[in-house]
Formats: sequence, structure tokens, C-alpha cells
Amino acid sequence: MSNSYEGLSTHYDLIMTSGYYDYDAYARTLLDLIGDRRQLLEIGAGTGLVCEKLLDLAAPGLEITGVDHTESMLVQARQRLGERAEFVQADLCHLTVPSLFDVAYSVGGVWYYIHDDEDAEDNDAVLASHLMEEDDNINALSRVHAALKPDGLLILATQGPHRDHERTLPGGLVYAQEIHSAPDNTFTKDYYVRRVAENHQGRQGGTGEEVVAHQRCEYRLYAAEQAERLLKQCGFRSEGITSDGLFHYLTRQ
Ligand SMILES: C[S@@+](CC[C@H](N)C(=O)[O-])C[C@H]1O[C@@H](n2cnc3c(N)ncnc32)[C@H](O)[C@@H]1O
Repeated sequence: MSNSYEGLSTHYDLIMTSGYYDYDAYARTLLDLIGDRRQLLEIGAGTGLVCEKLLDLAAPGLEITGVDHTESMLVQARQRLGERAEFVQADLCHLTVPSLFDVAYSVGGVWYYIHDDEDAEDNDAVLASHLMEEDDNINALSRVHAALKPDGLLILATQGPHRDHERTLPGGLVYAQEIHSAPDNTFTKDYYVRRVAENHQGRQGGTGEEVVAHQRCEYRLYAAEQAERLLKQCGFRSEGITSDGLFHYLTRQ
């Protein structure tokens, strides 16, 4: 399976909840956009962190089905949410659903937008995809389209550009990411979790760090116009960006 999160899943929550994503902000803006809609499909639901925030903050009656292809992420999502939500293991390229949804949304899941500046009105955001092949993107987006009711919404989160980065995690761990861009509008991202040895200072001949988790993901990038074309081809019309810049939203045509 390409772009599985298996290698990172044990440390995923620690990394994400110590400064990577602001789940509270994402959930509040999502709820504003969703309004009275109640049947939600989460694309690339991971360990259920977005889902949990939504359910904690929403009025009763929100029904969320999360889809993800990495079972070790979903195991955590099911532990976190029990009966409060449903999680289904599926690759988006093979998605089928038993009933239609009002909204499909994703935070950093299969697709997300990258804004390269602070301007929330920036319309030149690049679309990043975990799916490397054009046909897979068309297929999976068409399946999301087919999973939505006629007036359904597709909501995709934005995030800042990927850069090499390192920061300390609780428990003597360090998170690092390394980005390698390729000329063909793709890039790879290596995620590392390292344990810092207590006696690493003054040691000779070693880094004093042990890699406890490593995962490599590949991404394909669509420039703004290409993204618009792809989404239109799959039946979506772009409606804009939320005023806080956190989400792009599209209507199903
Ligand atoms: C960065 S994580 C985001 C998880 C969650 N939305 C969050 O905000 O914490 C990306 C997720 O997308 C999932 N994913 C990537 N490609 C996928 C695909 N083709 N089909 C289903 N899930 C996929 C990964 O397994 C991973 O759990």
C-alpha cells in the first residue's frame, strides 16, 4: 500500500497534538461551514483526532464515518471514539459507501491545500495529493463525488508549506521532517521520531540519538489551475476559502 502511515502510527498522536495541527481551530471552522448538515465522511481520518474534536464541539446528531487505508491508525480511532463514530478501512481509490453523505472533509488526509504565504485570500494555493497517479486522483475524487448527496460539500484543509523541521516532543523524543522536492511536481517527506540518549552530551563517534520511528510519504502537487481543472473534471466547483484560511470548500455539481 503506498503512503501507508503504519511506520508513524504509534507516535502519530504525540507529534500531531504537540504543535503540528491546531485541531480545535480546524473543528470550529468546519462546524461553521457544515451548518445543519449531519452526515459526514472523513477522508483520511487517521487516529480520529479531528472527528473527536467535532463530536465534542457539535450539537448532538452529528454522524461521522471515517475512511482510511492504514489499519493501525484506525485501531486508535476506534479506541478513541468507540460507538461515537464509525471507521472503515478503505483506500479512497476503492471507496464505496452504503448511503450518501452531506459533507466529505479532510484535514491533511488524501488531499490538502498548501498556502505559501500568510494571505488567507490567496487563491494560488497548490493542491497536494497522497495519490501519485493522475488516474488515481480522478478515480478517488470521482468516488468521493459519488458518495455525496447532490448538494454535498467537499471541504479540504489548508496548511503551510512543508519545510525541513525539527522539534522536541515530550518523553525525551525529537520529531524531525525532511523534504525532498523533485522537478516533476512531486516531493517526498521523511518523518522521523528519535530518542535522545540521556548521556549523549560528550559522547564521541555517535549522534546520541536512536531512530524509533521512520516513515516516508510521497506527494504529488497540482498548481492552482491544474487543481481547479482536476476538481471540475470530477464534478466539484470551488466556492472559496474560509475567512481564517483554514479550508477550501467546493460544491458537488
Ligand atoms: C496526515 S494523516 C491525517 C489524519 C487525520 N486527518 C488527522 O488530521 O490527524 C493522513 C492520513 O491519510 C491516510 N491516507 C493516505 N492515503 C490514503 C488513501 N489512498 N486512502 C485512504 N487513506 C489514505 C493515511 O493513512 C493517514 O492516516
